[in-house]
Amino acid sequence: MQAALPHGIPTNVPPKNSPSGDPRHNDQAKNDQPKNDQPKNDQPRIDPPQNDPREKLIVALDVSTAAAAQKIVAAVGDSAFTYKVGMQLYTAEGPQLVRDLVASGRRVFLDLKYHDIPNTVAAAVRQAAQLGVSMLTVHATGSAKMLRAAADAARAANPTLIVLAVTVLTSMDEADLEKVGINGTVVDEVLRLASLALENGCQGIVASGHEASALRKSLGNDFVIVTPGVRPAGAGHADQARVLTPAEAIKAGASHIVVGRPITEAADPAAEAQSILRQIGQ
Ligand code: C5P
Repeated sequence: MQAALPHGIPTNVPPKNSPSGDPRHNDQAKNDQPKNDQPKNDQPRIDPPQNDPREKLIVALDVSTAAAAQKIVAAVGDSAFTYKVGMQLYTAEGPQLVRDLVASGRRVFLDLKYHDIPNTVAAAVRQAAQLGVSMLTVHATGSAKMLRAAADAARAANPTLIVLAVTVLTSMDEADLEKVGINGTVVDEVLRLASLALENGCQGIVASGHEASALRKSLGNDFVIVTPGVRPAGAGHADQARVLTPAEAIKAGASHIVVGRPITEAADPAAEAQSILRQIGQ
C-alpha cells in the first residue's frame, strides 16, 4: 500500500536527478552532491533505462486544489516523473504541495515565470531550490542581469536545477508585441530572447513546437527546450489552431513536452500518458 503525504499524494519511486535533455545531465549532475539544505527524500530511487520516454513528458497540474492534483498524480501513476505546478495551483495551495510532490519522489517543474529585479528573482530561485524543484521559469524580458542572477542563484543552490526562460508567450502575436514596444516578428523576438537567456546561464527555453526548430537551427542542441501546447495524435484540435503532436514536437527539437488536459481530463490518465509515451518513444 502506498503511504500518503499531508496533501494526500501517494509516494512513488521515480528518479530524482535532472531530466534528460539537460546538457549537464551526465557529467555535472553525477559529480554534484546534494546540498545540505536540499529537502530530504528517503524514497528509494530507481534509475530509469536510458532513453526512457518518461524523461521527456511533463504533466501539467492545472487544477485549484491539492486534492485534485493528488487525484491526477495517483491516476497517472508511474507513467510520468515530472509535474508542472503553475500559478493556479501554487496560488491556491502554496509551497507545501510542492514539498509533498517532491517528498513523494516526483519531480516538479515550478512554472511561476519570475520577473522582477535581479535580487528578488535570485531570492525566489533560492527558495524554489529549497523546495526541491527540478525546473523553474523566469521571463527572458527581465534583462540579462535578472537572467544571470536567477541562473547563478540556481547553480549555487542546486547545480542540477534547470532555469528555463520564457520568451514570447504563445498567446502573443506581432500586433501584441508592437503594442508593448517590440517591432519585428515573433520568431525573431523568440530567438533574440533565447540567446540572451542562454548567454546568461539559463539551461533552456520554453517554446512552442513551431519555435523549437528555429531555436535548434540557430542556437544548437546544447540546451533544454520545453514545449507546451501539444496534442496527442488523433485528438481533436478543437480550440487550438496551431498544435503539434508529441512526436512532431520532439522531432522539431523539443527535449521535453508539457501535456495538461489531454492527460488530466482523460477517462484513463495513465493510458493516455502511456499512449503519448509510445508516440515519443519511437
Ligand atoms: O493545453 P494543455 O492543458 O495541455 O496545457 C498544458 C500547459 O501548457 C498549461 O499549463 C498551459 O499554460 C501551457 N500552454 C502554453 N502554451 C500553449 C498551450 C499551453 O504555455 N500554447
